[in-house]
Amino acid sequence: MSLLADRTVVVTGAGAGIGRAIAQLFAQEGANIVCADLRREWAEGASAAIEAAGGTAIPAACDVADPDQVAAVVATAVATYGRLDVMVNNAGIASPRSGMTIEDHTVKDFDHLVAVNGRGVFNGCKEAVRQFKQQGGGGVIVNTGSIAGMISWGGVVYGATKGLVNQLTRALAAEVASDKIRVNAICPGGIWTNLAFAKGEEFRPPDEAEAKVLRSLHPIGEIITPEDCARAALYLACDLSTNVTGILLPVDGGYLTK
Ligand SMILES: NC(=O)c1ccc[n+]([C@@H]2O[C@H](COP(=O)([O-])OP(=O)(O)OC[C@H]3O[C@@H](n4cnc5c(N)ncnc54)[C@H](O)[C@@H]3O)[C@@H](O)[C@H]2O)c1
Repeated sequence: MSLLADRTVVVTGAGAGIGRAIAQLFAQEGANIVCADLRREWAEGASAAIEAAGGTAIPAACDVADPDQVAAVVATAVATYGRLDVMVNNAGIASPRSGMTIEDHTVKDFDHLVAVNGRGVFNGCKEAVRQFKQQGGGGVIVNTGSIAGMISWGGVVYGATKGLVNQLTRALAAEVASDKIRVNAICPGGIWTNLAFAKGEEFRPPDEAEAKVLRSLHPIGEIITPEDCARAALYLACDLSTNVTGILLPVDGGYLTK
């Protein structure tokens, strides 16, 4: 069973980590993917990997903080595949260093985090809703929020931007429900990606000591992977979740139960 057969999906931040896993899984489920990323070469790499595995994808360089670039990506999706069915607003950044307090953040740090994590999701939601309405209604938005937007975890400014994503998701779900547009978010816990832990130019898997720390982060005691997040996003993107809207789905190994 292909859960997303012939659906057109834009994934932002598709060049690495959670977004790349989402793009790959959705392509395996039959979707036509636009792999959008700030890093053109990473977008191209993700797209090429999907095509090499027999899927359908094109790359798109895009800074989600720029409304014109996000509009251009949606236009590319429609021009290439005929329509837009699913918008995954996943691109995001962390604070410049881990462990930063509010006093450590400059106004420039704050503005950059809000521009990418907050305005980026706003831009993606707005363009998707506009396109969905033009198509006559229907459509799905999946945002990548975070448990950091629900509790004090992962940094005060980063968490505040994720609180913005979480609330935008819920409020927009109410606003566009009558247009048959569903809006939900996945809310990952601590995932080993470049953003949160690996912190390198090139992705590398955790070593044994790092893996032990990762397991200790969540009650279930296993490493949470980008693929775990992708499966949660798939549920929200496909018809298995018909009538599910406005939810913030934790992928956190039970962290929020603490
Ligand atoms: N890793 C975690 O522990 C964790 C936890 C909760 C939420 N998240 C969220 O998951 C999402 C993906 O993060 P990840 O962990 O996969 O990180 P990652 O760094 O591995 O991937 C992020 C991708 O987004 C791209 N990107 C960054 N800025 C961009 C911009 N302005 N425009 C377009 N693309 C941009 C990067 O080039 C990269 O390919 C983010 O929204 C992040 O906040 C991550």
